[in-house]
Amino acid sequence: MSFDRHRRLRSTAFMRDMVRETRVTKDDLIYPIFVVEQDDIRKEVPSMKGVYQVSLNLLHHELEEVSDAGIKTVIFFGIPDEKDPEGTGAYHDHGVVQEACRISKRLYPEILVILDTCLCEYTDHGHCGLIDPKTKDVDNDSTLPLLVKTAVSQAKAGADIIAPSNMMDGFVAEIRKGLDDNGFRHIPIMSYGIKFSSKFYGPFRDAAESTPSFGDRRTYQMDPANRSEAQRELNSDLSEGCDMMIVKPALSFLDIMRDVRNNTDVPVVAYNVSGEYAMTRNAIDAGLFDEGIIMEQMISMKRAGADMIITYFAKDICKMLDEGMY
Ligand code: PBG
Repeated sequence: MSFDRHRRLRSTAFMRDMVRETRVTKDDLIYPIFVVEQDDIRKEVPSMKGVYQVSLNLLHHELEEVSDAGIKTVIFFGIPDEKDPEGTGAYHDHGVVQEACRISKRLYPEILVILDTCLCEYTDHGHCGLIDPKTKDVDNDSTLPLLVKTAVSQAKAGADIIAPSNMMDGFVAEIRKGLDDNGFRHIPIMSYGIKFSSKFYGPFRDAAESTPSFGDRRTYQMDPANRSEAQRELNSDLSEGCDMMIVKPALSFLDIMRDVRNNTDVPVVAYNVSGEYAMTRNAIDAGLFDEGIIMEQMISMKRAGADMIITYFAKDICKMLDEGMY
């Protein structure tokens, strides 16, 4: 057997570095932060070791860590003091994520802020929209105006990007119109348009206190068995004016990510969700893998076509990059 070019190009670390096709950099990372309205809380999420719910009045510590690590973009999720059937906390001008955004913009204007536009963290029933009392299901059309109100209040608070995650039909078009009508033509929409109904969101619902009190989200989120449907979702969001597309979850849906990458030229975002984080974190803590497993997962998402990654591992990754591990 001859020693051919495959082995030659792997023969030294310099060589491997030179021919590496995919890289993860700090610029790719988006860090999610759970913000609590109530004062003086910094509480680890039991199912997500290393991830905290933080009060607005303590947010500056968290932001300092983010900024020191070199993370350039954050996405805030809110846990309001009070929840109600209409999710009014989502579209209150001084709601918890609106205030988090103002604090972040005041202290670290260079950090890009994404706000998640959904009602599930603000409704007492935990669903992403208004419930039709007859069908006990989320009512699409009466939910849309509330999402528009939410997005506009988020833009008013200074959000750089609006990320609607509710999966109502027509949500991108309505939010685009609402933003345009209110003087926010320049604010892009990062749509969670390809969002599967997934068990991997379990720990997030712990963190955001948004587990539905009845039923599930299968009438509005996608069936994990469907690949062509992702193409339809992509087409409708693009025609409605979305600027960036999220695929969520990430690791079990890399085929979908590659399809999206091949079929559009808008930036593609991987959401490395809470369950993926928890599984990996627990396995590392149990000594099954070393931390390199995190990088291997990030590389897989980028190789599948993601331009950016929303990940709870963002701080760990920055540390590894600083230490020259990759
Ligand atoms: C809100 C929302 C969810 C996630 C992001 N935005 C929860 C859900 O749909 O149940 C999940 C993110 C994660 O698991 O990390 N709709």
